[in-house]
This record gives sequence, C-alpha cells and structure tokens, in this order.
Amino acid sequence: MMGEGEFAADFDPKADAFMEDPWGFYRALRREAPVYRDPRSDIFFIAAYDLVDEVMKQPALFSSAVDRAGMRKGGLPARVLEIKAQGWTPALTMSHNDTASHPMYRGLVSPFFTPRKLKAIEPFVADHTAQLIEAMRAKGTVDFLTDFAVPLPIAVIARYLGLEDYGVETLKNWSDAFADEIGFMTSDERAIEVAELCFECHKTMIDRCNERRADPRDDIISHLATTRIEDDRLLNESELLSILTQLLVAGNETTTNTLAGGMRRLARDAALAAELRAEPKKIADFVEETLRLESPVQGQFRKATEDTVLAGVPVPKDALLHVRFASANRDETIYGDSAEAMKLGTRQPKPHVAFGAGMHFCVGAMLSRLELRLAFEQLVNAFETIELAVPESDLHYHPHFHLRALKALPISLG
Ligand code: HEM
Repeated sequence: MMGEGEFAADFDPKADAFMEDPWGFYRALRREAPVYRDPRSDIFFIAAYDLVDEVMKQPALFSSAVDRAGMRKGGLPARVLEIKAQGWTPALTMSHNDTASHPMYRGLVSPFFTPRKLKAIEPFVADHTAQLIEAMRAKGTVDFLTDFAVPLPIAVIARYLGLEDYGVETLKNWSDAFADEIGFMTSDERAIEVAELCFECHKTMIDRCNERRADPRDDIISHLATTRIEDDRLLNESELLSILTQLLVAGNETTTNTLAGGMRRLARDAALAAELRAEPKKIADFVEETLRLESPVQGQFRKATEDTVLAGVPVPKDALLHVRFASANRDETIYGDSAEAMKLGTRQPKPHVAFGAGMHFCVGAMLSRLELRLAFEQLVNAFETIELAVPESDLHYHPHFHLRALKALPISLG
C-alpha cells in the first residue's frame, strides 16, 4: 500500500504482485489522477466511475480494436510466431469489433442467453452444483477453486458450446492459455506452451464444427456451424474460432473468480454467511456486491481514434487507455464513504460496471448471475461452517494485467 503522492513511483500494474492488493493504488488514482498516463507503458489508466462510463459509451472515439496478445513485453518469441503461422488468421467478431458487423455476430449468440434458455439450463446448473457440494462435503477440507469454482462454470459453458466430452482439465488448460495470451505477462516458455494449447483448441473446435454441421445438436457450435449470415454464407473458420474462444474464456474464468471472491468473503465473515442463510432474498444482492467489489475483470483496453481530452488530460490519437472497472466500482463519489464495504438490502445509487457498459456489455451476464446465485444459495445452506483452512496471508493471486484470480482457496467446510 502506498502513501499520498507516491503512486507515480510505485504504480506498476505489470508488476507480478500488483493483483495481490490493487485497491490502495486505485484509491490514490481516483483521488490524485483519475486519468493517469503511466510513464512506464504510456497507457492511460482511467479510474473514476463517470470517466469509465464516458469512455465505454463512446466506441467510435475509444475503440476496442486492440491487439492485446501483441503487447507482450519484448514481443512474441520466434517459436510462437511459427506456431501461430500454422493456425487461423484472427477475425474481429465481438469484443474487439466496434464496426457495423458487431450486432450481427452478437445476435448469433445472444439468443442462447435469453430468460427462456436460462430457465432451460437451470436444472443442469443446480444438479451440477449439488454434486460438487456433495463431493466437497465428503472431503471436509478442499481447495475451493479446484473442487468447485473451476469445474462449475466449465461444465456449464462446455454444455452450452457442445464440448462436454473434453472434460474439465482440458477445457481449463485451453481457457487458461487464451487468458494468459491476453494477459501478456508470460515467460517465453509459457508463451510457447500457450501458443501450442491455443492451436490445439482451435483445431478441436474446427473439427467439432465440421462434425456438428453434418449432425447438428442443441448447442452453440451446431448453431454457429449451420447458420447462414449476410450474403447467405456460412461463418468462415476464423469467425467461428473468434466467437467460440471468446465464449469459452469469458464464460468461465470470470465466473470462477467471482465464486472464489465471494467464498473468501463468506469464509472470513461467519455473520455474512448466517445472514444469507436466514434471508435468502439477500443472495442476489450478495452476488451483485461481490461482482462490484471483486471485479474479476479489473479493466479493459480501449484505443483513442482521434486526439481528445478526458477530465482535462490530453489523450492523443492512437493512445491506449485501460478503463479500470475495479476502481470505478469502488468510487466514493458514487458509492459513498463506505464504497469499499459490502451492502446488502439497499439499492446502490448506480449499477456496477463489472460486466462493462455500452455496446460490449457482457453477453453472458445473466448466465453467470444464475450460476452465482444457485451456487451461493446451495453453499450457505449445505454448510454451517465455512472457514479458511490457511492464514489469509497465504492466499495469493496470479500475475495478470487485468484478470484478478486467486491461485488457491483452501477452506474447511462443516
Ligand atoms: C462473472 C462473470 C463475468 C464477468 C465479470 C464478465 C465480464 C465482462 C466484461 C467486463 C465485458 C466487457 C468487455 C469490454 O467491454 O471490453 C464482457 C464481455 C463479454 N462477455 Fe463477459 N463476463 C462474465 C461472464 C461471461 C459469461 C458466462 C459469458 C458467456 C457464456 C461471457 C461472454 C462475454 C462476451 C462474449 C463478451 C463480449 C461481448 C461484446 O463484445 O459484445 N461473459 N464480459
């Protein structure tokens, strides 16, 4: 944690330990420089709620078309470029695409996240949650990540996509590889492994698309592989891969980290768990407040498309901005003096931005809310005691530029 005026020297979001405790940095940024140009990277960090909202709602001025993987320190190793050369040319479909084709691509998947579809998947999510809970009960002391927070969202997204037969470990390895690629903080060795895993996943997805085109089922891959878009053509392989990998990564990493963040809070605060058990109506608030306070996607890149000014700070054309949702979500000017505390049972003055805002607002928000609600409902009812099995100081986060992910969460359940 740093003192007044020191953040310019200490603020280094590419530091391995940054995600351990980013909150003091965000507080200082909001107070001293809500639009802050980091001299190390030339990236403009946006820390205040209203400014984050302003950037997110102007996609023509602040574009999402940023090559995150290419931003790795020291560039990409030659071997990574060789592996990538064997693969598919990247396509812009949803999250990096601000052009007129964005609604078309998004419209291909959004029907899978309607209330009717969520109702249909609910029994599967509830059953799977119950099975994972029973397995944890049998163990007593567990790593909540390995035993629950990782496998639940993976099972759900695997079923949605039509990749159930690949199993949690393989899907998690692939998803981690894509997440590491956009986190650009990997060693050379890991960067090569990441490139190999991404290639393997892409190849598997293309094979699955071909299988489903011949024999469609009720899953997203079948839908995407058979749907005809503009000009009456099928999606090409690059488009298919872009959409499918976004769903795979966005659909589990983030939900995993919200589950873990919420469980850590319950393990630290027995009264909070008791309150949710006694008043299940508050679970929806707990989910929203966990999303706000944990912000598993701490921020996202945008690129200025012309010279502009934000809160009096000149931002030149082509400058990279990093909008920090995690800081906006604790902005005292919006959420008051107790912005960093969890509030249940009262409506917050403005919605949190953990799912983003504007045209790229998370397409899977309602699915993850369903998973989080069912999980916490069942967890607080299944266990009377939820306690950390190690001291708080033993809990650590993975190094990443914008995803905040606990490495492990050992807990005892009784
Ligand atoms: C707690 C869980 C989740 C969090 C915190 C989260 C967060 C976000 C955020 C912040 C964005 C906006 C990114 C930007 O504007 O650059 C986003 C977009 C997106 N999310 Fe999520 N997400 C979650 C769960 C999911 C799930 C379950 C899915 C799919 C099954 C999903 C799919 C997507 C997709 C496809 C986009 C891009 C949408 C577009 O560009 O139009 N997310 N998510």
